[in-house]
This record gives sequence, structure tokens and C-alpha cells, in this order.
Amino acid sequence: MMRSVVRGVGSALPSRVMRNADFEGIVDTSDEWIVQRTGIRERRIASDAETTASLGEAAARAALASAELTPDDIDAIVLATSTPNNTFPATAVEIQERLGMHHGFAFDMQAVCSGFVYALTVADLHILAGKARRVLVIGAETFSRILDWTDRTTCVLFGDGAGAVVLEGQEGAGTTTDRGIIASSLRSDGSHKEKLYVDGGPSTTGTVGHLRMEGREVFKHAVAMITDVIEDVFAQAGVTAADIDWFVPHQANKRIIDASARKLGIAEEKVVITVDRHGNTSAASVPLALAEAVGDGRIKKGDLVLLEAMGGGFTWGAVLVRW
Ligand code: ACO
Repeated sequence: MMRSVVRGVGSALPSRVMRNADFEGIVDTSDEWIVQRTGIRERRIASDAETTASLGEAAARAALASAELTPDDIDAIVLATSTPNNTFPATAVEIQERLGMHHGFAFDMQAVCSGFVYALTVADLHILAGKARRVLVIGAETFSRILDWTDRTTCVLFGDGAGAVVLEGQEGAGTTTDRGIIASSLRSDGSHKEKLYVDGGPSTTGTVGHLRMEGREVFKHAVAMITDVIEDVFAQAGVTAADIDWFVPHQANKRIIDASARKLGIAEEKVVITVDRHGNTSAASVPLALAEAVGDGRIKKGDLVLLEAMGGGFTWGAVLVRW
């Protein structure tokens, strides 16, 4: 049976670091409030020259280098983003051009913070269907551009960045010991739209708009939704929390991550945390965390890795992958 194996991973962050203390002249907040409520200490903010396309390109190049491949070896690009460079064409196509890739196909996916988990699942299905052998899956965001910098309840939470993986179809035995994506589960429920959305768009206001969030409402649903899809992938694969080597959750809030891990029975030392340094980078957060944990040697070949995300829509999903 064909499996979509992660052959390479890479990431890119803007060079400008914005620490919690840097907000103190901008909105009425404090380092203590932000750390206590979210675990965030700093985030990266894109310069005028840095865009979703440039960060996505840099992450893609890093993933290709770690896979020892070139753009010529890639059949398709799937970019998860809610902050594209333009309304159209897809920023994935712009990244395709930046990589000098003039074959195959590229498209964007929009599932807000769940975007990377959605993109990984869609890329996996292209590989399993024989439509592509190698797919570059990127999560790239510049949320700093859609924040209301006068709203303390949202502007302190987000950051910019990008991460990418190269997925490659390889033959497996059809068991959970195979390398590659073992199971995935996607969900959405549009009745929650008003709790987390951007108040603009081409078909409504004709403007880009700003992010609006009822944080407490999102928080209330997050843990139940995350654990729901994780239990689904556990059931599909016939594994339990004890079998997981690494838990790489969407990095929105340390309290949500801790509560989810506790509810699932996943030990604290198996949880990869980057929210303290990246804030919430939406679709980039999971691949950024993956790149860090692979880069520092924590995630190794053969490890069972659990990915999850939850975000605007609401959307939520989980992917179980043997590294
Ligand atoms: N600094 C100081 N005080 C603040 C700040 C701030 N930056 N922001 C809010 N406050 C105040 C509020 O005004 C409120 O004051 P009040 O009691 O006088 O009204 C008080 O702090 C408490 O506010 P809450 O919203 O109840 O704080 P809470 O503990 O819920 O934390 C937070 C807020 C961090 C937003 C939390 O609810 C959260 O993380 N929610 C989930 C967000 C999330 O997971 N998003 C994921 C998806 S993101 C995506 O898809 C794009």
C-alpha cells in the first residue's frame, strides 16, 4: 500500500522579534498578563519586504534541502494560508514561480489555523490517488497584516512565519509500523463563524479587514474539538496515547495545549511547544514546530507523531504520521 512519507522539513521566520514588553506602549497590556494567559513571550513580525510568499519560499527551500531534492523533483505545491499575497492568483503559484518550477500544479488551501492539517491530508490523498508522487506542503502566514493593533484582546496573540514538508509516496505494508501518514481526520462547523473571523473580504466589504475573536468562546470549544479528532485517528489506526512519541499541536495557547494533552493522557515531555517564541502563526504553527523538533533531534525516523489544529470556521483536524 502507498504511504505519504515526510522526506524533508524546513521553516522560515522573520528576523524581527517582538517581545511582550514591546506592546506596553501600544495597548494596555503587560508581559505578565500575556505569559499567564497564553504562554507567549515573543513572536516574529514580518518586515515590509517579507511576505507570505517570501516566507513560504524560504521554508520550501529549507524543506527541499533537508529532503535532498530540487523543485524539479516536486509534482505539486499545496499552500495553507489565510494571508495570501493577493486575493488571486494563489500564493502557491507565486511560490512555484519563485522556486523556478514550471511544471506540475499549485494551489492554496484556506482552513485558518487548521490549514496545514487540511493541506497535509489533501496532499496525502493526491499521492494515494496516484495524481502526484512528491508534494510540497507549506503553511505560511503574515497575520501581523490583518491584526487590529489597537485591540489588546487579539494583537498580542499572533505572529508571522512559515514551515514546509516534502511528502513522498513510498510503498508500505499497510500496517501502523509503516513510515508516512497513517490516519487523518478533518472537521468543520460554520455555526461558529462569528467567534473567529476577519471582518472584510473581496465579496463583502471589498477590503482586507481585521481579525476579530471572542477568545473565551474559542477557548471553551477548543479542547473538546481537538480531542474529538485525535480520538478518531487513534481509533482508525488502533493506537492509544501511550503509543505516541511526539505530540505536535497547533500553537495558539499553552493552556489549551496543556489541557488537551492532559485530557488525552499524553505526557508533558512528549509535547512540542513553540508558542512561547512564535505566538500563534496560524497555518504555519505545526510545520514550524515540526521543523524545530526534527532539527534539534527530538523527532527521529520511526517515531509516531500526532499533529492537530483548530481554528476559525471552526475547523479542526488531526494527522497521525510515522516519521
Ligand atoms: N492584556 C491585558 N488584559 C487583557 C488583554 C491583554 N492583552 N486581553 C484581554 N484582557 C482582559 C479582558 O479585557 C478581560 O478583562 P475584563 O475581565 O475586565 O473584561 C480579562 O483580560 C479577561 O479576558 P478573557 O478574554 O476572559 O481572558 P482569557 O483568560 O479567556 O484569555 C485568550 C484570553 C488568551 C484570548 C484565551 O481566551 C484564548 O487563548 N482563547 C483561544 C484562542 C485560540 O485558541 N485561537 C485558536 C484559533 S486562532 C485561528 O484560527 C486564527
